[in-house]
Amino acid sequence: MTRIILNGCFGRMGTVLCKLAAENRDMEIVAGIDIAMHADGQTFPTYSDILSCEMPADVVVDFTNINGIRGLCEFGEARKIPLVICTTGLTPENWNDINAAAEKVAVFQSPNMSLGINLLSNLLERAAKLLYDSGFDIEITERHHNQKLDAPSGTALVLADAVNRALGNKLRVVTGRGGGNAKRERDELGVHALRGGTIVGEHSVVFAGLDEVIELSHSAHSREIFAVGAIKAASFIKDKPPGLYNMNDLINAL
Ligand SMILES: NC(=O)c1ccc[n+]([C@@H]2O[C@H](COP(=O)([O-])OP(=O)(O)OC[C@H]3O[C@@H](n4cnc5c(N)ncnc54)[C@H](O)[C@@H]3O)[C@@H](O)[C@H]2O)c1
Repeated sequence: MTRIILNGCFGRMGTVLCKLAAENRDMEIVAGIDIAMHADGQTFPTYSDILSCEMPADVVVDFTNINGIRGLCEFGEARKIPLVICTTGLTPENWNDINAAAEKVAVFQSPNMSLGINLLSNLLERAAKLLYDSGFDIEITERHHNQKLDAPSGTALVLADAVNRALGNKLRVVTGRGGGNAKRERDELGVHALRGGTIVGEHSVVFAGLDEVIELSHSAHSREIFAVGAIKAASFIKDKPPGLYNMNDLINAL
């Protein structure tokens, strides 16, 4: 049984996680945190500030925004409770806090908790070198709902990193193009964000060569895939020693 404190319990992802928890005997949400408090019928106590929560727990799962990261890390360090940080758009300041927390407790971070995307990232590392060296240009597109705060998505940047790692970091990430002098340079790695409606999350990596195009794509059809990944991450790190963990560690352990 994994006892979870859910940070961001009333958000879109928090709501999905609550639904899955209600159907899962191996986990229990023992407390919820959200700065926007709701009065309606949750089965756990809720708090507007994580630092005021004293509930015993095995792990905190976080789906909030970048402003909540400092308090979350302070809480994990002070209470010695491992953290699963799913919030995206993390800043260098956030990373300072996360790295400091990871010296005291286990911290799992991934901007995309789906197995499929992480496998895609592995495949890219293999495809990128061969295709780039054969003259292909590489560009990434992503599509998300119109409420998403960060752009391009953390996942698109993870995919760009995977491509660039395979190529010895010789490409320049270019976000968006415009104007009359926007001809593509060979060392560009375009990353483009489209926003609209309720799109859960779509990512495509396009390899465009001479007279042929290869496209590797991932489409999330519901938010459950991320919540399932977060639950797996929570049971994976709850007994781990301090350190920073990610989806590769989880996949290798599966
Ligand atoms: N890693 C992944 O796989 C993955 C998947 C989906 C979404 N996300 C990310 O998770 C985050 C949340 O996504 P969402 O769609 O649920 O957003 P959302 O806006 O629907 O929900 C966020 C919730 O967090 C609450 N909140 C904000 N700041 C807080 C704080 N300091 N303390 C406590 N609660 C706070 C808000 O009131 C809101 O209820 C975003 O950064 C999103 O990009 C990550």
